[in-house]
This record gives sequence, structure tokens and C-alpha cells, in this order.
Amino acid sequence: MMVFVSRHEHFNAAHKLYNPNWSKEKNDDVFGPCANANWHGHNFEIIVTVKGIPDPDTGFVVDLKRLSKLIRTEITDKVDHKNLNLDVDFMQGKMASTENLIIEFWKILVDKVPLISKSATLHSIKLYETPRNYVEYFG
Ligand code: NI
Repeated sequence: MMVFVSRHEHFNAAHKLYNPNWSKEKNDDVFGPCANANWHGHNFEIIVTVKGIPDPDTGFVVDLKRLSKLIRTEITDKVDHKNLNLDVDFMQGKMASTENLIIEFWKILVDKVPLISKSATLHSIKLYETPRNYVEYFG
């Protein structure tokens, strides 16, 4: 009776994709407009899915108000209206790709989900960088 429950949140952030070990030409070739020196922004959508057995007292796997608050406190408050390369402590020294971002989000949330629900564990995170491009991570 495992049920998967998801919450969708939103944030805006700026970044650039630029490998300092490469020439400008190679960066432009690999990253195209994402290597733009003066940054660019995205409207990110994050979908966090937890799984568990519904609590017999509530019928809930997780209280979605608490899951929403967890995502906001631990993730979106730290990245919303920020520059991912410069402003976000857990992205320091990393390429600011959506792939690397979702791995850091997982590390932040995985131990905190069981604290808001005794039956729930983190199942997956989906992160949309654009309406057509998204990454998904299962830990
Ligand atoms: Ni980009």
C-alpha cells in the first residue's frame, strides 16, 4: 500500500555554465548562450515526491503543508532570486547545472523528510529548468 505523494514549488534563479579550465571558445561551443558572461535566469519548478503507507489516524502519507514548508525553508528560500554560482553556499565550486543542483537538493532533503512524517521517505525530485527541459533524481 505504498503511496507516492508530490508537492510542486517554484523559484527563479540566475546562473551561467562556464568551465574556467577551458578557453572561451570551448565554453561557447559546449554551453552556447548558457556561457553568457553576464548570467541568465530561469523559472525553475521543483517537484518533490515522497512515498509511504498512509497513517491510519490521518489517511495521509505526509501532511502536504509540512512538506511544502520543508521545501520552502530548506530549498527555495535559499535559491529564489539568487545567483546559483555566487550566492548559494551548497553550489560553491560546482558547475551550476540543473543536474548538480538536484543532487544537492536531494542531500538536503533526504534526512529531513522522515522528520515531518514517520512513514514517509524521499522517493524522487524533478527539477524543471524550462518547460521542456527537466532532470529527475532518485538518490
Ligand atoms: Ni541556464
